[in-house]
Amino acid sequence: MCGIIAAASNRNVGKLLVQGLHKMEYRGYDSAGIALHQKDQIAHLRTLGKVKLLEEKMIQEKPKSKLGIAHTRWATHGEPSEENAHPHKSNERVYIVHNGIIENYLDLKDFLKKKNYSFLSQTDSELIAHMLDYFLNQGNSMLDSMYLTKDRLDGAYAIAAIDLEDDQNIIVARNKSPLLIGIGIEELLAASDPLALGQLTNEFIFLEDGDVAELSSDSYSIYDINKKKVEREISKIDISSQATSKGEYKHFMEKEIYEQPEAILNTIDGRVGGDDILENIFGLGSSEMFERVKRIQIVACGTSLHAGRVAANWFSSISELPTQIDYASEYRYRNPHVDEDSLFVTISQSGETADTLAALRYAKEKDYLSSLCICNVPTSSLARESDYSIFTNAGPEIGVASTKAFTTQLAALMLLALSIAKGRKKNPKLRTRVVTALRSLPDIIEETLKLKETIIELAPEVASKDNALFLGRGIFYPIAKEGALKLKEISYIHAEAYPAGELKHGPLALIDENMPVIALAPESEIAEKLISNLEEVKARGGTLYVFSDPTISMDVKSGKLIKMPKCDFLLTPIIYTIPLQILSYEVALLRGTDIDQPRNLAKSVTVE
Ligand code: AGP
Repeated sequence: MCGIIAAASNRNVGKLLVQGLHKMEYRGYDSAGIALHQKDQIAHLRTLGKVKLLEEKMIQEKPKSKLGIAHTRWATHGEPSEENAHPHKSNERVYIVHNGIIENYLDLKDFLKKKNYSFLSQTDSELIAHMLDYFLNQGNSMLDSMYLTKDRLDGAYAIAAIDLEDDQNIIVARNKSPLLIGIGIEELLAASDPLALGQLTNEFIFLEDGDVAELSSDSYSIYDINKKKVEREISKIDISSQATSKGEYKHFMEKEIYEQPEAILNTIDGRVGGDDILENIFGLGSSEMFERVKRIQIVACGTSLHAGRVAANWFSSISELPTQIDYASEYRYRNPHVDEDSLFVTISQSGETADTLAALRYAKEKDYLSSLCICNVPTSSLARESDYSIFTNAGPEIGVASTKAFTTQLAALMLLALSIAKGRKKNPKLRTRVVTALRSLPDIIEETLKLKETIIELAPEVASKDNALFLGRGIFYPIAKEGALKLKEISYIHAEAYPAGELKHGPLALIDENMPVIALAPESEIAEKLISNLEEVKARGGTLYVFSDPTISMDVKSGKLIKMPKCDFLLTPIIYTIPLQILSYEVALLRGTDIDQPRNLAKSVTVE
């Protein structure tokens, strides 16, 4: 959840480390800190709050250094405070930054207290600094001390450490938490996210679990879990600054909403051809594997889970297969039964979500036919550990609230439904219809985005309330859930979603003039039933905002009926998502919340 960065260079590194923190701030932003080696001492600056405050402190104090580590935090153990901010130190000698969770921290703290180490923070991370100091004092090198420390740590970690007695080297270590090395010009870098280093290099080495590496300004050495020196592949990735800047937009979320036509185009580009889906788009051998699939198990979290819920419907109607779907955090604990020839599918924007990764690792021990991931980050742990994968090609998503990642996940899941249907020789005509519809999707999204002005008009009504109810039926229920999640996460308005038919079984009691009801009413076989449900709301004084098919007419009294562009029914969930994203954004804007970095959240949830 946190972001770590380290640099050993021939130039001053303070500024580049802080710039890197800014790029990773979406991962966590309750406090930030830096430790800079200055030969005879280590400058140690920490601030509560956003990276900007650390930057201001740096501008005042102007510490100079060619070797340093820095951190932006999302609190797990201990409240957000300056004492709990990283880097943590031991005896003014060892300074560390850590991303992850040390599960056996209480035992290790007890051990260190008995060795006379005292703790200044409530974090699990501080013990890493003390443990390294303890082993260094026994005459071990920093590399050996890191291995000895690692041997005692249970849990997930990406660590970077520096030692006052060595102004040339940084030691980094990875276990179940992302960490990569960046090879710069006359400098070596490390970070938990390539975005942090995108301005500095396009050459990256993704460390593996158990790896430890030593970095100086002109060289690096990597050692594996058994302390054997290893070579790891160098990947060239161009992370352009354009992709990570807001451009003309006020917020990344806004930019990402309006990027969706292009993002969707990139998801389908090169994957459909003629009137059908192309072969092996999920990796070599995937088409052959799809012939055997008899059942699908989906596992994901948050917005990605909502994408899975929509897709479950497509797997049924297009691929003619049953689907089981689970919250990643719950899946392992329900003792799942695995049917023969079941395909295990994970969905994740980041590919680093700890619960989803843990579920994949658990599933790999079970009797699944194969594992497959839908992911936006090709270099992520999930992508590397799955048998098959498809990348959503949405481009970096910086806003914590997922927008283009969600709609591109839906597009990729539709490609999966079509590929499995093709493998199973099902529904050729329907496949052609959907492929044609997919091609026109970017244009329809473009048209949908023009609803912005209409939505801006109704945003003040929603912004003035404390609650909201989202309604949808069938394949639109998960879209209603996604709308509610978006609204609550960025505007802090309490929002719930229900299948409209469930209203009279309880939630109808909540309806009054203070409960705006946002409903999705596409043309469908149950459109009339939905309209009756909405009449029940109207009769009880609820204000209705209905996004509907142009053919549907209803009197919404004080609310608003907003006509949506026409689209193939199977793809309408993607289209109906767009106005809900814009509504959340405009409401949050009116309420003055921190849209890109909402309180208490983080983009990449790398703790279970
Ligand atoms: C989306 O707006 C949320 N921030 C969150 O629910 C997110 O979708 C979830 O944490 C899963 O993340 P992932 O897609 O990176 O696995």
